[in-house]
Amino acid sequence: MNLDAARHALPIDVESCGEFAAALVTGLSAHQKFIPCRFFYDAAGSALFERITELPEYYPTRTEMRILREYAADMAALASPGAVLIEFGSGSSLKTELLLAEMQALHAYVPIDISGAALGAAQARIATRFPALHVLPVAGDFSQPLRLPKEIAARPRLGFFPGSTIGNLIEDEAVELMANMREILGEDGTLIIGADLKKDVRRLIAAYDDAAGVTAAFNLNLLHRANRELGADFSVDAFAHLATYDVRHGRIDMHLVSRTEQIVHVLGHRFRFFTGERIHTEHSHKYDIEGFRALARRAGWRPGAVWTDAEALFSVHVLAAA
Ligand code: SAH
Ligand code: AVI
Repeated sequence: MNLDAARHALPIDVESCGEFAAALVTGLSAHQKFIPCRFFYDAAGSALFERITELPEYYPTRTEMRILREYAADMAALASPGAVLIEFGSGSSLKTELLLAEMQALHAYVPIDISGAALGAAQARIATRFPALHVLPVAGDFSQPLRLPKEIAARPRLGFFPGSTIGNLIEDEAVELMANMREILGEDGTLIIGADLKKDVRRLIAAYDDAAGVTAAFNLNLLHRANRELGADFSVDAFAHLATYDVRHGRIDMHLVSRTEQIVHVLGHRFRFFTGERIHTEHSHKYDIEGFRALARRAGWRPGAVWTDAEALFSVHVLAAA
């Protein structure tokens, strides 16, 4: 696409420009503007997410890693010999390595991620560290029907969905996704799933609005991505990162706030912003243990063991299909 021409041309049929274009134009046309959070993860966004996981304020990654390290042997016992580990939103697959180290008899690992960049780097590292394991990556959106590798057809399946990525979906979507996972993992399937827990609101806000500004850069990267890929003309400095906590829904919301009145062009469409107007970019739900188990039951799962850390910051659940 000629991006200069796209900037001021007549409105373009966005469906033909790909998913990000269609989602952006739809989201910015809404009364309450929004951009779906799966578009955070281009190569730059995935790299920024990895920096977030190392921030002092962002407790979820290191806490879940601690839980996985402590209970990896119990989790490994859930994998029958010759089974396949299917991970949803695998990103760097760093957490997975803790499980793989204990799962000696596993046949294959299928990481699924929307970010080709993250998937490629993880595949290379896992294949080097576990040479006997078949690593079969699938690039795609886990909320859409996916074609899984033929090689795994008849094998028992163990699912892994860490990071509390489930929290990025609103309740009905989360139930639908977990129900789809149950279909994918089969009648004897098991899912190991991480869920962030409710806690002091100041601690939550700090985790999503860190002092070094990495989460702000992650959020604002959506606008850089629109400029890079779609020739949009966002003045990125004219937007600010905002994280709020919605007590009623038990969730962090991230927004991009227009610092001024302005007009932005995307693929020939004009979007007007008033000062203080927000683009909603992410929900991140926080649960209590019983609430999460109830959510899993709604999706047809039978909740089993739950592990948490000493401060009860994060939880890891085992769900059984049968
Ligand atoms: N599992 C890792 C990464 C979590 S970040 C961890 O726990 O640290 C969320 C990951 O999910 C990212 O790698 C992102 O690219 C991926 N992701 C987000 N939405 C997705 C979708 N709809 N389909 C597939 N992958 C998705
Ligand atoms: C991937 N997901 C669970 C992260 C979260 O905490 O909701 C994404 C993130 N957003 C801001 N910081 C991290």
